[in-house]
Amino acid sequence: MEATATRRGDAMILPRHIAIIMDGNGRWAAARGQPRAAGHKSGLGAVRMTIEECVKHRIEALTLFAFSSENWRRPAEEVSSLMGLFVEALDREVAELHENNVRIRVIGDRTALSVRLQARIAAAEEQTAANTGLQVQVAVSYGGRWDVVQAVQKLAKQCAQGALRPEDITEREVSSALALGVLDDLTLADPDLFIRTGGEKRISNFLLWNLAYTELYFTDKLWPDFDRAEFEAALAYFAARERRFGLVGAQQRVVQGGG
Ligand code: IPE
Ligand code: IPE
Ligand code: MG
Repeated sequence: MEATATRRGDAMILPRHIAIIMDGNGRWAAARGQPRAAGHKSGLGAVRMTIEECVKHRIEALTLFAFSSENWRRPAEEVSSLMGLFVEALDREVAELHENNVRIRVIGDRTALSVRLQARIAAAEEQTAANTGLQVQVAVSYGGRWDVVQAVQKLAKQCAQGALRPEDITEREVSSALALGVLDDLTLADPDLFIRTGGEKRISNFLLWNLAYTELYFTDKLWPDFDRAEFEAALAYFAARERRFGLVGAQQRVVQGGG
């Protein structure tokens, strides 16, 4: 079984890959009598802090849910302010991320995005492509079901072309056809730790396949209020879990080489 957490010296066990549903921006703004867009803008600070923390702890990968397939059905004004914010954030942040050896990729249905945003994304991905530090995936226009559908279509096409036999489709083929699996030169482990802010305890169509054995951490903190202390609390929660992957505890301790 693949080792999914790292132990450095006597330090606590850290997740290799963290996935976050950044929820609660609208409520944060409403509580201050501000428009929802102000909450989204303020959420950018929490994104910056989270990336810094991940870099500091040498976490390998961070996947952030920024906009879901379903979020397209929000009022047009909110959708367009979010799209504007993505462009702005890319323009403002990519240079510094690049300096910090961070690689950025976007997962999701890009064809739904404006040409302008698609171009900014492509430029950011290209500029940071060789970076070997934190691997950041931003899920935009992403849905777990969309992801499964596009993977199935890809595999079906390969079968129709005679490049793949249906009986040769295993979990491995499915995994690598999914959005996190096709990030070309990188073998990205499934998330070890999932964090959702904003108090809801649901997956909201995030990474359905990849979260199969992920440890789940929920906090009532609204995303703009997500701070270093809360991030550390999530890491501590993760470190205290015994991941059994369907085995019994004693077996798992042998697999992980001690307790
Ligand atoms: C999360 O915050 C950001 C997006 C979904 C884009 P919300 O906008 O969902 O904020 P709440 O949940 O309404 O407070
Ligand atoms: C999930 O939040 C999507 C993102 C954070 C991008 P939502 O606010 O859209 O989820 P629901 O509607 O509460 O399930
Ligand atoms: Mg929400």
